[in-house]
Amino acid sequence: MKRARNFNAGPAALPLEVLQRAQNEWLNIEDSGMSVMELSHRSAEFEKIHNHAIQTLKELMEIPENYEVLLLQGGASLQFSMIPMNILKDGKRADYVLTGSWSEKALKEAKKVGETAVVASSKDDTYTYIPKVTDIEMNEDAAYLHITSNNTIYGTQWNEFPATGNVPLVADMSSDILSRKIDVSKFGIIYAGAQKNLGPSGITVVIIRKDLITDNDKIPSMLNYSIHSKNNSLYNTPPTLAIYLLSLVLDWAKEQGGVEKIAEINAEKAKAIYDIIDNSNGFYKGHALYESRSHMNVTFTLPTEEAEKQFLKEVKEAGFVGLNGHRSIGGCRASIYNAVPLSHCQELAAFMKKFQDAYMAKETQTH
Ligand SMILES: Cc1ncc(COP(=O)(O)O)c(C=O)c1O
Repeated sequence: MKRARNFNAGPAALPLEVLQRAQNEWLNIEDSGMSVMELSHRSAEFEKIHNHAIQTLKELMEIPENYEVLLLQGGASLQFSMIPMNILKDGKRADYVLTGSWSEKALKEAKKVGETAVVASSKDDTYTYIPKVTDIEMNEDAAYLHITSNNTIYGTQWNEFPATGNVPLVADMSSDILSRKIDVSKFGIIYAGAQKNLGPSGITVVIIRKDLITDNDKIPSMLNYSIHSKNNSLYNTPPTLAIYLLSLVLDWAKEQGGVEKIAEINAEKAKAIYDIIDNSNGFYKGHALYESRSHMNVTFTLPTEEAEKQFLKEVKEAGFVGLNGHRSIGGCRASIYNAVPLSHCQELAAFMKKFQDAYMAKETQTH
């Protein structure tokens, strides 16, 4: 079987080595005579896997002692509600920086819970850039400041994070967690759906500073950080298969040499594709402004709708998967998360160059 060259935005490519290991252990995990899905979530075997996932993430991201890692359900989308429900206290305001559709959605849910404000936005420029940290109207009294570190749909990424002082910085890192080195101590909460850089869908990682976890009986148990924290994220039945795969992806990340090594490869992967865009004499046009470009989602358009249609048809026929832009903005998008090999990015870059040459030759012939 030939493996697809998978540029899906999420769920996305998983490391082949992870899939192979899961295949090898499929019928018998930890010598239990069972598959991981058949283990009790209260068993010693599963608890070992669960704790290993948490511990490995702590190591990889160098998460300080005063933080907890929670493994929750409901996707990053549920965090849009859980964050304000748990940490937006009465009389306080939650501040949001709008950098794309996901931050808009996060804000929409927070508005249902309490007072909010937009303190910076690139909406007027169709989210082509990340606002400068100095342009954020910081409010020292805010309950928190929320950002989306990588904008999956528009292909922009924060390079420098705002220094928020006593205000907890909350980041949706769904599409770039573990793709580069991050100083976790700058954040109050980091959250991410697993289905891009961490594993399959069905699990959401929440890294939260311990002082932000407070008891509040009014919050339903399943939405309550304190309840999940007290139960080591085993309050109810967790998605055991997803947690197992998460643990394998984290082991794989360690084997790659950790986050810094992964970041180096990611930069090389992104450069391979951006170089083609930059050297195409405007044939390919990147959506994101240069300094806000994402290393995870490369978004671009072609000169005409017809050229774009042709490109998407031919790229698919050539065996590349998932190059269509998000349905809300169209265009093209290559999602190049950690598990997408450099060779696939280089092959896509070569395809883009070949397509441009052939398209332009045909144009010159017909005019
Ligand atoms: C940045 C970002 N935030 C949130 C979400 C929503 O995640 P979920 O589907 O896990 O709720 C996505 C999904 O693609 C995303 O890219």
